[in-house]
Amino acid sequence: MVLRPHTTRNVAAFTRWYADPEVARLTRYQDAPMRADDVRRFFEARVTGSGSLALAIHLRESDRLIGTCAFSQLDGDNGSALFHITIGERECWGRGYGTEATALMLEHAFGTLGLHRVGLAVFAFNERAIRSYRKVGFVLEGRSREAIWRGGAFSDEIHMSILAHEWQAIRGRILGLEPTPSTAETGAGAGAGPPAEEAVR
Ligand SMILES: CC(C)(COP(=O)(O)OP(=O)(O)OC[C@H]1O[C@@H](n2cnc3c(N)ncnc32)[C@H](O)[C@@H]1OP(=O)(O)O)[C@@H](O)C(=O)NCCC(=O)NCCS
Repeated sequence: MVLRPHTTRNVAAFTRWYADPEVARLTRYQDAPMRADDVRRFFEARVTGSGSLALAIHLRESDRLIGTCAFSQLDGDNGSALFHITIGERECWGRGYGTEATALMLEHAFGTLGLHRVGLAVFAFNERAIRSYRKVGFVLEGRSREAIWRGGAFSDEIHMSILAHEWQAIRGRILGLEPTPSTAETGAGAGAGPPAEEAVR
């Protein structure tokens, strides 16, 4: 996987991704897909706009664009940011790509940007996302009760975060830079992808 800056051409993929009702259900505060003109405005302001910290997720082998990830609310005074990710290509869900991209972004946040804390918000019914976030070290820090009206019922919004020292403690294992206990025994490679310095461009 490679993370790299978005180009204006990527707006077409964004438009397709956010027209998908399932992507909208999992990512939007409004219970409807995003209209094309809203996607374009969002893309220009928050994705390619100056000061934005959004990166395109490409598969390394094919260079295929499969999603986007970003930091918002970068707060230099307090060393914090909010993390967002969407793998827009649905057939790419559940294959480890989201977890890998999130790990690369955390390495960028704590290693390159020198942040102290990365937070995120996720809807309680988004179990795939919550599982992926837990795998890279995000911990639950609270919930906004019944904050989301979705599919005819209220759901909680979950708040998670990871701190710099927590990432430092697990990054070697997550990034495949050091053997896990089981691979140390078998001698097999950890194989969790290249170090972030190589992959975040
Ligand atoms: C959330 C997202 C980034 C996760 O990336 P991903 O590549 O699909 O997830 P991964 O394959 O890395 O990890 C998912 C984990 O959840 C598990 N999982 C998959 N589908 C699941 C489901 N329906 N319910 C619960 N767990 C599920 C997987 O088995 C995997 O865990 P494991 O490795 O321990 O087996 C991606 O699915 C996505 O972009 N979804 C749509 C948009 C979205 O929800 N964005 C997040 C908004 S906060």
